[in-house]
Amino acid sequence: MKILVTGGAGYIGSHTCLELLNENYEVVVLDNLSNSFEDSLTRVKNITGKSLDFYHADLLDKEQIVKIFSENKIDAVIHFAGLKAVGESVSIPLKYFHNNITGTLNLLEVMNDFNVKNIVFSSSATVYGDPASLPIKEDFPLSATNPYGRTKLMIEEILEDLFRSDQNWNIALLRYFNPVGAHESGLIGEDPFDIPNNLVPFISKVAIGSLPELSVFGNDYNTSDGTGIRDYIHVVDLALGHIKTLPKLFTNPGVVIYNLGTGIGYSVLEMINGFKEQSGKDIPYKIVDRRPGDIAACWADPKKAKKDLNWEANKTLADMCKDTWNWQKKNPNGYRESNREN
Ligand code: NAD
Ligand code: WQD
Repeated sequence: MKILVTGGAGYIGSHTCLELLNENYEVVVLDNLSNSFEDSLTRVKNITGKSLDFYHADLLDKEQIVKIFSENKIDAVIHFAGLKAVGESVSIPLKYFHNNITGTLNLLEVMNDFNVKNIVFSSSATVYGDPASLPIKEDFPLSATNPYGRTKLMIEEILEDLFRSDQNWNIALLRYFNPVGAHESGLIGEDPFDIPNNLVPFISKVAIGSLPELSVFGNDYNTSDGTGIRDYIHVVDLALGHIKTLPKLFTNPGVVIYNLGTGIGYSVLEMINGFKEQSGKDIPYKIVDRRPGDIAACWADPKKAKKDLNWEANKTLADMCKDTWNWQKKNPNGYRESNREN
């Protein structure tokens, strides 16, 4: 079985390529490296001792996608490629709509032309907006609170319309909660190009000393300690969720939707403490105003994925913090060659 992984050089994509190779899938990666390094894939090959084919290609260039499908007999696509910075999507919405929507349309058109109609799409818990109750189930109402989230919602709707028009499509919409952590080897992990937007990469940079302190966005939420609560999921558990989804896709299920989360919520202060314990480093922080657009709490009901896919997240908060720290300290400058320690 040959799987095309768009965005495969990125954070979740590289961890998924690793698990695909471990399961003996053939892997073809399409990535324009706009938010990643090819070195992630070199390391995936080193860890697994297996090879994959990499195309430095852009989903906005349809001819490049056609070339990949002409040269490979693809069985299914896992579609990670997209821009994901919520704040940037608010200030430059057209960039997000163009890249995420047009890129996906190009991909779907080529898949259709080559009669490859199996796709796993990286959706997000952001499509639930501010949920009326917790935990969040897949049939909860959907909404978007920013252009990034709207691209996820729009792509979900595009895929559902596509299935309505042609029942030969098999589509898995995977709604990720908050992916964190890194492969236990410490060789691959999350490597934001700029100052991180997300909590765990930011904590990690504070622990390594490249950022002075964390700003905690509000301690006046209606939560146990007043800080925001999220369902953090280890990226390896998340990658394994994709591995469990593929056989389901090959049973011709039509459109299926799954939450990929742990079902457990942790507060910002619990994350800081967890990271402190695992790293042995102090994490200086100050409480600041709430970040506009943030919700108080969000965690998944992951039972549907357990029942249908026999998948559940197994890694603990300690694993998430330990593996993030292992990656960070082995690679203080991420994949940037000149400062690599390992
Ligand atoms: P990432 O930025 O590390 O990976 C995305 C990859 O897509 C990058 O390697 C980037 O270079 C590539 N890419 C972007 N636009 C492209 C284009 N036009 N053509 C080819 N390649 C392109 O992000 P990630 O955290 O690994 O996220 C993967 C997917 O999961 C994204 O779709 C993201 O929206 C979604 N998601 C992420 C999170 C999260 O918190 N990390 C949560 C929910 C959903
Ligand atoms: C987590 C908690 C913050 C940074 C985002 C996207 C979402 C999804 C995952 C892609 C919140 C607090 C954060 C900081 C803080 N991505 N925080 N100081 O906002 O839940 O989700 O990433 O689909 O769409 O919106 O994740 O890691 O940014 O924040 O106090 O410097 O940490 O307020 O409570 P979020 P996050």
